[in-house]
Amino acid sequence: MKRVVVEGSQWGDEGKGKITDYLSEKAKVVVRFQGGNNAGHTIVFGGKKYALRLIPSGIFHKNTVCVLASGMVISPAAFLEEVDVLKKAGFDTSKIMVSDRASVLFDYHKTLDGANEAQLKGAKIGTTGRGIGPCYTDKASRVGLRMGDLINKTSLQKRLKSALEFKNRELRSFNLPEVDFNSLYKECLKLGEKLKPFIANTAIYLQEQVKKGTKILFEGAQGAMLCLTYGTYPYVTSSSPMANSIPLSCGIPTNSVEYVLGIAKAYTTRVGEGPFPTELFGDFADELRERGHEYGTVTKRPRRIGWLDLNVLNHAAGISGINGWAVTLLDVLTGVDEIKVCTKYTFEGKDVTTIPATLEEYEQYKPHYITLKGWKEDISKVKSFEELPKNAQTYLKTIEKYTKVPIAMFSVGPDRTQTVVLHDPFAD
Ligand code: IMP
Repeated sequence: MKRVVVEGSQWGDEGKGKITDYLSEKAKVVVRFQGGNNAGHTIVFGGKKYALRLIPSGIFHKNTVCVLASGMVISPAAFLEEVDVLKKAGFDTSKIMVSDRASVLFDYHKTLDGANEAQLKGAKIGTTGRGIGPCYTDKASRVGLRMGDLINKTSLQKRLKSALEFKNRELRSFNLPEVDFNSLYKECLKLGEKLKPFIANTAIYLQEQVKKGTKILFEGAQGAMLCLTYGTYPYVTSSSPMANSIPLSCGIPTNSVEYVLGIAKAYTTRVGEGPFPTELFGDFADELRERGHEYGTVTKRPRRIGWLDLNVLNHAAGISGINGWAVTLLDVLTGVDEIKVCTKYTFEGKDVTTIPATLEEYEQYKPHYITLKGWKEDISKVKSFEELPKNAQTYLKTIEKYTKVPIAMFSVGPDRTQTVVLHDPFAD
């Protein structure tokens, strides 16, 4: 396969960074296609931990081109800061390309994100507070700026003026200070100078790479259940992390995507508000949270913890056509006597295996579990499926059985080396 997608299949934080890092070694181009610095990938290698927010994981591999595609929302300041950190750590940042059509995320988006959340009171979304929703809102309302505007003075002046008329009205409605055009304009000119070397028509670049048959990895952020259309709306992010959105967000033909690797954590986590049928509470949830270091990379919030939900995996697989699973954090379940897996829900006395459109309905779904025997053996050094304890094998096989999607890889620890690959999508 030439074009592979890493897609989160739950509520984000599935350990995509690690799998992306592994696959990006094989790709010539690595692309982020949606979201912004609400995402946070942690990659561990050589005894060091690196956190990425905006820049694709390909940055750690020499000669890999990293593309921030048109579907993204990018805070110029956050981007430049990340570039700086990476440069100082000795990584080559000259092969980063930022789409001229990607949306510019301003500080006022962050301010409005906070103000919107505060106004929602008890019905807060629990956003990352990075301004993602307000920035996508502006894109859809046609009052947003694109990265290309930052390097075209005439366009910048025109677009920023009309944006601020609209945005200042909104800020006023919250009794928040207005944004001064002149100072933001000057700031944008400076940012534009710094961003110029990165900004390009990435759609044309990617089209050329597709034609050439270059190996491209598409790195999804968040997860299917946070998809604006198919997630647990409104407790979702404001873009689509699903593979289906790649062609449009990157400006490449629909049939460009060849293989979708669904990343599924061996249990489930969620940050922010919203329904979560298999959620666990109490000591056991706390124990798993500590063992799995389940705290947000971006906001450090403790993640909510639950059993694996196969209905959720099937939901993602059905929409984006997942070809294989990468099951992550399997080692975190070591030592658990009995592991539960949700195979269906019950609602109004009936079995259900699909995710409903309304939260009001989903909140009433009761999980139905099968119970599998756990394992006690340390699996952190396992190098093949056969080396896994029988019960861990059964666990993985259960996922295959209920989703009818094969396990392509599994991960038994945070390090780069602790990934067992049964099927490498780029090797076909
Ligand atoms: P936003 O993307 O900041 O607007 O947040 C909307 C929802 O998506 C909230 O529930 C966030 O916690 C969640 N979210 C956004 N980004 C991530 C992520 O990278 N991992 C997990 N959850 C996320």
